[in-house]
Amino acid sequence: MSKTITVLPGDGIGPEVTDSAVSVLDYLFKTFHHDVRFVKERIGGAAIDTDGTPLPRKTIDQCLASDAVLLGAVGGPKWDGQSMNVRPEQGLLGIRKALGLFANIRPAKAFAPLIDASPLKRSYVEPVDFVIVRELTGGLYFGKPSERRGEHKEQVVDTLVYSEHEIERVVEKAFQMAEKRRKKLTSVDKANVLESSRMWREVVNQVAKHHPDVAVRHALVDSTAMQLIVNPGQFDVIVTENMFGDILSDEASVITGSLGMLPSASLRTDKLGLYEPVHGSAPDIAGQGKANPLATILSAAFLLHYSLDMDHEAALIEMAVQNVLEQGYHTPDLNVSADRATLVNTSEMTDQVINAIAQQAAKVN
Ligand code: IPM
Ligand code: MG
Repeated sequence: MSKTITVLPGDGIGPEVTDSAVSVLDYLFKTFHHDVRFVKERIGGAAIDTDGTPLPRKTIDQCLASDAVLLGAVGGPKWDGQSMNVRPEQGLLGIRKALGLFANIRPAKAFAPLIDASPLKRSYVEPVDFVIVRELTGGLYFGKPSERRGEHKEQVVDTLVYSEHEIERVVEKAFQMAEKRRKKLTSVDKANVLESSRMWREVVNQVAKHHPDVAVRHALVDSTAMQLIVNPGQFDVIVTENMFGDILSDEASVITGSLGMLPSASLRTDKLGLYEPVHGSAPDIAGQGKANPLATILSAAFLLHYSLDMDHEAALIEMAVQNVLEQGYHTPDLNVSADRATLVNTSEMTDQVINAIAQQAAKVN
């Protein structure tokens, strides 16, 4: 049966990195005879320019009708200073909400060849292998519009609303991930201050009863921000609300060496998911071939795993990325010092990944 992937390149380096990931996917689909088609749609600033809105209805409909969505990045100085409802970021928040993608998976894992690029000491980084499960469609990001702008200009309100159901479904996802990993779950909140966090804790304790083999710990967000630096190796799965997850995942992303390496998956209960690199649109280097495509290529591996059940193909991508880094290939963001290191541009890096996949696939077959 034919499958469809909607590609939303977006802005800045988005088109370059999604092109790279599509080349890699295309190679795999041809090699393994999968019938998958790609459909491109607009989002973010690119959509503002042509359609006057960061999220055209056609984009939403196309995503809803597909098996998976691959997204580059949105935003750039060109659209700064516009009013809130025409900012590129609204396209991203809108598509997450429209597709109901409540669980955002952001892993942080040390890549051996990149450890010296981390701002932390090697011994702190080596054991790092955790995943942040960020709630993605609720909390402060989605306060009720009527309460966002009061008539009195000197006062604004952002509401942090969560229903038990919204907390439960993302926490359940996090427990399921923990069960497949090292069975440790850290639930992060601010229960010493926020009522929503106290409810979050209650829900976590309820869900925990169905997962007796997972060790659960509650931790405050400020202390977790500190623990991520002093002992990042202690974490396995971290689950937290939208805004805390946004902040902690940026912190986590630099631990392993480069923001250019980190993939993400945004999931819901069925198989439809949206896959995007954790990094942004990097307008300063757009169009120059300097962008690191690996975060998007690794996001494509997540796509194969979570949405298309192609675990073997996903594993090939992950092995290939490891392999090219071991050979010393790196884009300018990867601060590697090895003498064997070869600086490459976006498309050369993509070609190296495809070569490595081809070699690996030949070995297996
Ligand atoms: C992210 C980004 C977005 C977010 C922005 C661009 C709206 O920072 O994906 O983490 O805050 O969710
Ligand atoms: Mg962020």
